[in-house]
Amino acid sequence: MTLDLDLPPLSDIKVDGDELIRLSNRSANMLERIRDSMLQPHPRKQPPIYPSNKLQLLCNIDKTKMQSLLRSGKVPQGSQEAPGRMRNFSLEEAMEWVRATRKSMPRPEGKKGSVITIGNFKGGVTKTTTSMVLAQGLTVRHNRKVLIVDLDPQGSTTTFFGINPHAEIEADQTVLPLIEGKEPDLKYAPMKTYWHNLDLIPSSTDLFNAEFILPAKVNMGEDAQFKFWQVLSKGLEPLREEYDYIILDTAPTLSYLTINALFAGDSIIVPVVPDTLSFASMVQFWKLFSDLVQGLKGFEGEGGDKAFDYIDILITRMPNKPAATICRDWIIKTYGDHVLPMEIPETALAMSTSAEFSTVYDRPNWEGSAESYRRICDPYDRLVDIVDQKGCQIWRR
Ligand SMILES: Nc1ncnc2c1ncn2[C@@H]1O[C@H](COP(=O)(O)OP(=O)(O)O)[C@@H](O)[C@H]1O
Ligand SMILES: [Mg+2]
Repeated sequence: MTLDLDLPPLSDIKVDGDELIRLSNRSANMLERIRDSMLQPHPRKQPPIYPSNKLQLLCNIDKTKMQSLLRSGKVPQGSQEAPGRMRNFSLEEAMEWVRATRKSMPRPEGKKGSVITIGNFKGGVTKTTTSMVLAQGLTVRHNRKVLIVDLDPQGSTTTFFGINPHAEIEADQTVLPLIEGKEPDLKYAPMKTYWHNLDLIPSSTDLFNAEFILPAKVNMGEDAQFKFWQVLSKGLEPLREEYDYIILDTAPTLSYLTINALFAGDSIIVPVVPDTLSFASMVQFWKLFSDLVQGLKGFEGEGGDKAFDYIDILITRMPNKPAATICRDWIIKTYGDHVLPMEIPETALAMSTSAEFSTVYDRPNWEGSAESYRRICDPYDRLVDIVDQKGCQIWRR
């Protein structure tokens, strides 16, 4: 039996190079129109508002302490809809309150900001979520100045900032000009975002080009000193004065860019989902990563061979299932002290916030069950606090 689908007859004209150029031009024009229609002033994502009770939680103070600080006049007063009503504080005001109450050690004069690479060659293990939560948490809980660098051509981190990486980001806003050698470092790239003290170097699909440019530079051999794995690290160097932390979110592949990110990191955090497949792929991660560091031994030059301040494993998306518990135990048995002492549970709340390109830190005011909120927020707070504590220890050296 033949189905009569009423298709128009197939054209005798083949799809040739000229037609491809026409299609390419049409898509570029359409993109331009999309971009124009989206042109609104940045930032278009809104930072959170903290009502008094949530600010008390953030600053770890009670109502009495809050009242006395308000009376002292040394902290922002927030805004009230009417006298006697609950006060609301902007993110920037909340950060001032944190400065007045939590007393994180400031980065000592002359000490450089710390680069933390979030890596795992597997997708879906929450690299992007972890990068974002860490970046937001370090600014709001510890008053740090943070830069997040999106090194995944898919641009998920960029999307978390309310930016469409494919329609709104040009290649020269990404790390690409550094990779091409058009810029000596990354000072040109950080952009302000909706989140105070958190800047972004965005990504776009153009980042795929790095995978052709870097090997081509090696093969052309024009610069005998060219070390393809150190391009990013050198480009970030001047930014380490300005930022306390630089967080690198990577693509789930062992690409030239990911290698650069691993070598640029002072420390590495590897998020892992406790299931057998992820465990198996992590075995591969360590093998490739250690081969890489071994293979480049002796080529590092200035500063000696690569060594990290710490390499930590973060157990994440931990479901409440016996199989996951068994796998978690393997991870702890295998990696011992490298496993961070908290685990991030798998929760519907985390899933739903990230479906809307936000994190729990975007929602201090979340109206659902306080218990569900604390269940995911407490381990994130702990992660942020531990990472900052490690950062302080490194600065004290
Ligand atoms: N704690 C969590 N519980 C449940 N789902 C989560 C949690 N954290 C992240 N996710 C989901 O996991 C998926 C992958 O996260 P993502 O950060 O994009 O990973 P990666 O960057 O490694 O690919 C996302 O769809 C996100 O919604
Ligand atoms: Mg990602």
